[in-house]
Amino acid sequence: MPLNLGDTVPDFSCDSSVGPINFYEYIGDDHWSILFSHPSDFTPVCSTELGNLQKLLPKFEKRQVKVLALSCDSAESHRKWIKDIDASGYCGPKKDAGVSYPILADEERALAVKFGMLDPAEKDEKGMPQTCRAVFIVDDHKKLRATILYPATTGRNFYEILRVVDSLQLTDEYPVATPANWERGEKVAVTPSTPDEVAQVVLGDFSVVKVPSGKKYLRLAKDPGYKTPKVLKRGIAETILGTEYGAKLLPTVGRLVFAFALGGIFSSGSSRKTKKYTDATTNGK
Ligand code: BEZ
Repeated sequence: MPLNLGDTVPDFSCDSSVGPINFYEYIGDDHWSILFSHPSDFTPVCSTELGNLQKLLPKFEKRQVKVLALSCDSAESHRKWIKDIDASGYCGPKKDAGVSYPILADEERALAVKFGMLDPAEKDEKGMPQTCRAVFIVDDHKKLRATILYPATTGRNFYEILRVVDSLQLTDEYPVATPANWERGEKVAVTPSTPDEVAQVVLGDFSVVKVPSGKKYLRLAKDPGYKTPKVLKRGIAETILGTEYGAKLLPTVGRLVFAFALGGIFSSGSSRKTKKYTDATTNGK
């Protein structure tokens, strides 16, 4: 039976790159987890994916998420492959390099079958089916919250997976849903079942987008889980000048501002050129 959203993800034990592992023991009671499957060891796209995942590990840890990879090869093979991944540079700067999360060994495809990860279109050299690039996002109650399936030929975007975790964790806490392409700090939609009075109390002021039907379903509020970094709230200049060091710098800063202002007046032609170049290259963003 395939796993559906909301199902409890079953426990399992197997060998892995870090030795024998039990899923429930590894994730504990207060962590989310993500299981990433890969077609096979020593393949190009998988190597870039595992390296990238290691690089972004602090971002997953910040969200209380433990990660596990799975590939249909032995633990011994995984350990040899990790040396290549570490050397490839995809894990980030040398000091942070080294795939440290477990890669599950699923030579017999027992887990791949249990989780419905096999891709009939991809076979290894022995004609055995390989796993596709599956993502299983599991919450701290061990419930399946989201799945994403990619074919072997398309590497995943790990920032998108972080974005999905952000959305799931935020919408668990507040009566909101996250719009298309939403990122942390951007406006969220009030869920349709939330009365205006409740939204006002829980989320503060919200706006209603006017639409031809006259229905008031598109209600937008501030991201209630987003904390503006201190430096943005106060303004960068205010933050720097507010420190003891900043106060000492003040006369120098004053002189620099004056010099820049004068420079701007005397070279207004060249500064216009710079602006045009900036707009063209950044698409005005
Ligand atoms: C890869 O990881 O590069 C890959 C694996 C299987 C099929 C195609 C690509």
